[in-house]
Amino acid sequence: MNANELMRVASAMVARGKGILAADESTGSIKKRFDSIKLESTEEHRRTYREMLFTAPGAAEWVSGVIMFDETLRQKTKDGTPFPQYLAKQGMLPGIKVDTGAKPLAGYPGETITEGLDGLRERLIEYRGLGARFAKWRAVIDIAEGIPTAFAVRANAQALARYAALCQENDIVPIVEPEVLMDGGHSIERCEKVTDQVLDCVFHELYEHRVLLEGMVLKPNMVISGKKAPNRAPPQTVAEATVRVLKRHVPPAVPGIAFLSGGQSPAEATLHLSLINRLGPLPWALTFSYGRALQETALKGWAGQAANFTAGQQELAKRARLNGLATAGRYGAEMESQAA
Ligand code: 13P
Repeated sequence: MNANELMRVASAMVARGKGILAADESTGSIKKRFDSIKLESTEEHRRTYREMLFTAPGAAEWVSGVIMFDETLRQKTKDGTPFPQYLAKQGMLPGIKVDTGAKPLAGYPGETITEGLDGLRERLIEYRGLGARFAKWRAVIDIAEGIPTAFAVRANAQALARYAALCQENDIVPIVEPEVLMDGGHSIERCEKVTDQVLDCVFHELYEHRVLLEGMVLKPNMVISGKKAPNRAPPQTVAEATVRVLKRHVPPAVPGIAFLSGGQSPAEATLHLSLINRLGPLPWALTFSYGRALQETALKGWAGQAANFTAGQQELAKRARLNGLATAGRYGAEMESQAA
């Protein structure tokens, strides 16, 4: 393990004004996204879409790194440059999703455990050889009647910590992503309690597994009302609750926190990030690692049409720029109506 390199890469991932593009949809997830624009999910369409995103002019100014799926890490731009090499040349760190998905947790109806530890060391060695400098593993915690159980939280936290230790052993910075879902009708107070419990458990396990906190990035949910909740909490309340919970659990040794968007609209995710960053000074960089909130408008703008390639890229660059401004608390909703 090269601690200096891990610390250098982790800091670069959360460098001032920059965040991460999560483009690591599995083959199943990207099919759902393509269904929304009535595009068949072929390997070539997936390659073209990712090339559209990665080569968007101006994006590298705001994007520190890109999370890819196994297939994407092995694909190339149309002039034959492997994506990881292309990204590195532009100054963006190549990253790889290494979990194999959340599966039903036996004995615990309605809860999941994220899989992918078997053979992970060997896969990490291969991924590093292909250019990956960081990785991602997502644990999924759902809120509903009677769940999450303490057992499911602990099982997921242990898997996250084992993954993180294996990454660092192989000089890959782990993104540790414990996602408390916003799918239900729960209140923001319930989300706060569950996020408290989850982060407490995750940092305990990271310590037990001897993970170097200076060489990782945390990717949490924001503390937010469930999507179907009546009277959802306003943006300022979300920002304050999120910072309150992070302060309780995330040691200042962690260089940065990069939020997931989790089903928030693009504008909502950007506004929340900006309000959070106005609550500083805080001990960590607070930035984005958005999937849907960065890609939604780009996907629609492109719509699978070669003629819209540039239009899609402009949409991605716009969202990257607005989120980059939000990391300094400098985003305003009026910026949404300005040209892409
Ligand atoms: P969303 O921002 O769409 O939640 O995706 C981020 C991610 O990487 C989920 O694992």
